[in-house]
Amino acid sequence: MDIAAYQREAWDRQVAAGNPWTKPVSAGEVAAARRGEWCILLTPTRCVPQDWFGPVTGMRVLCLASGGGQQGPILAALGADVTVLDNSPAQLAQDWFVAERDGLQIRLELGRMDDLSRFEDGSFELIVHPVSNLFVSQVRPVWRECFRVLRQGGALLTGFSNPALYMFDQDEIERGNAVLCNVMPYSDLGSRSPESLARLLERGEPVEFGHALEDQIGGQIDAGFLITGFYEDRWPDRPLDRYMPLFFATRAVKR
Ligand SMILES: C[S@@+](CC[C@H](N)C(=O)[O-])C[C@H]1O[C@@H](n2cnc3c(N)ncnc32)[C@H](O)[C@@H]1O
Repeated sequence: MDIAAYQREAWDRQVAAGNPWTKPVSAGEVAAARRGEWCILLTPTRCVPQDWFGPVTGMRVLCLASGGGQQGPILAALGADVTVLDNSPAQLAQDWFVAERDGLQIRLELGRMDDLSRFEDGSFELIVHPVSNLFVSQVRPVWRECFRVLRQGGALLTGFSNPALYMFDQDEIERGNAVLCNVMPYSDLGSRSPESLARLLERGEPVEFGHALEDQIGGQIDAGFLITGFYEDRWPDRPLDRYMPLFFATRAVKR
């Protein structure tokens, strides 16, 4: 299966279906950012601490797998030099929509998060990478590419899922039940029953991967990053998140 090709169509469908992570920021939010009032999410609800970014005016920023008209437009409104790379044309169209509506400059790149070969070494001072590496089967190539395209001293801000989520039967979670059944690392393609996977693919929804923390956190360190910030977050209406936050965010610096 060509996973990136499948995810591209699946995310285009998510845009049509109105998934919250495809809804662009409002003109009011862009205007507020221009006044210096802003919040950027890497995870469902907590604003990234502003000192994780530093002064962004003029900064070369890559918003990685970050289409949907959210992080890119806010950073552009703050004066950053923004490139948004995403695998879904419909997600990139949301950034284009905001840029046109609000007079922002944003470079749009259709591509895969694990292949940044179009960018030279040291092209960016900051990478903003909201929860999205659950859509690739391997995360370590993403960390290596991020390290390469960042300049020395640059920072990578990433949101990702707590793999504990994937220990539970994914169909039962949708019904509000927590049934322990999967061993880590998790893959929709390999861990679900054939019937459950067939239903998921028939619905055309994105497929997910639950990466080991050794790959999420250890992988960043092995790529050469120094982790300088960490917090947790919850999905507001999911019963499991009452027991444990199921999202993490890290700030990692290229030494
Ligand atoms: C949950 S959305 C994240 C973007 C959103 N702006 C946010 O605030 O969370 C996940 C994004 O990952 C993108 N994506 C999935 N697989 C990808 C890949 N292999 N390379 C690049 N982007 C990918 C999707 O198209 C989608 O826009």
